[in-house]
Amino acid sequence: MNKIKKAVIPAAGLGTRFLPATKSVPKEMLPIVDKPTLLYVVEEAVAAGIEDIIIIAGRGKTAIENFFDTNYELEDLLEKSGKFELLEEIKSISNMANIISIRQREAKGLGHAVYCSKPIVGNESFAVLLGDEITFPKDSYDYVTKELISLYDEQTTSCVSVMEVPKEKVNKYGIIDFEMLNTSYKNLDILNVKNIIEKPSPQEAPSCFALPGRYVFNSTIFSHIEETKPGKNNEIQLTDAMVKLIRNEKLYALNVPNKRYDAGDKFGFIKANIDLALEREDIGPQLKEYLKNL
Ligand code: UTP
Repeated sequence: MNKIKKAVIPAAGLGTRFLPATKSVPKEMLPIVDKPTLLYVVEEAVAAGIEDIIIIAGRGKTAIENFFDTNYELEDLLEKSGKFELLEEIKSISNMANIISIRQREAKGLGHAVYCSKPIVGNESFAVLLGDEITFPKDSYDYVTKELISLYDEQTTSCVSVMEVPKEKVNKYGIIDFEMLNTSYKNLDILNVKNIIEKPSPQEAPSCFALPGRYVFNSTIFSHIEETKPGKNNEIQLTDAMVKLIRNEKLYALNVPNKRYDAGDKFGFIKANIDLALEREDIGPQLKEYLKNL
């Protein structure tokens, strides 16, 4: 039984990298094969034992709410036409977890988006999963969120996932400065985060470990966000609040092996579509043939 039962999924960004599609549809609702990105993220949270999922939504709030709600008309139609497998799939979406949506009225940054969940999260520790990023288990490891929650259960310390990026790409991410702890978790080094620099130049970067977007926080993060002034791009940055948290308590980082796609980026989105479609029995062989002949 893990202690973390709530997860926050920020999905209220403007998605400018995906315009014009995101003018009316949130990028988190764009499909990877036949499921919106957000559903893969929700599945990761559910697999980690999360019961309450708080989605921070912006303009496309109703599309998100409707997706996780029951659609009686559609269910009736699928039943009458004998499409029982699809019917079960559609029904399971609305029964996956308790989905709560909160509106972030203005895209004031990731820190602000997380802060919007405070009335529901309260004093509990919670997970955060970025809504435009999908991950899948690899090797003997579980989903990243599940592993972070297990680490939290062991250590009762806020923790984040990190991934190693090439030096020339550090300017796209929050990069950590760290020292190694003497203990490990499932043969993985536990890194004690000392500082985070948002999008540093390769010369400024203290390491090549980037924050890809899976976190577990003590509720103290809220008071640190409250004290955080708008930073880069005039947005309230989550990393700035995390730096404040590090000054008061420990923050651990874990590089969990996983398969990850940045679905908020065009190339990442296309790669996810190709890889996941290739794995599918219904269209995989056809796609493989098509790609071979290109
Ligand atoms: P991104 O920086 O990737 O989102 O935020 P963005 O601002 O929509 O990206 P652009 O415009 O294409 O560059 C990471 C996650 O945080 C959410 C986003 O929806 C995304 O899932 N987010 C970001 C919010 O919920 N609110 C914000 O104010 C900013």
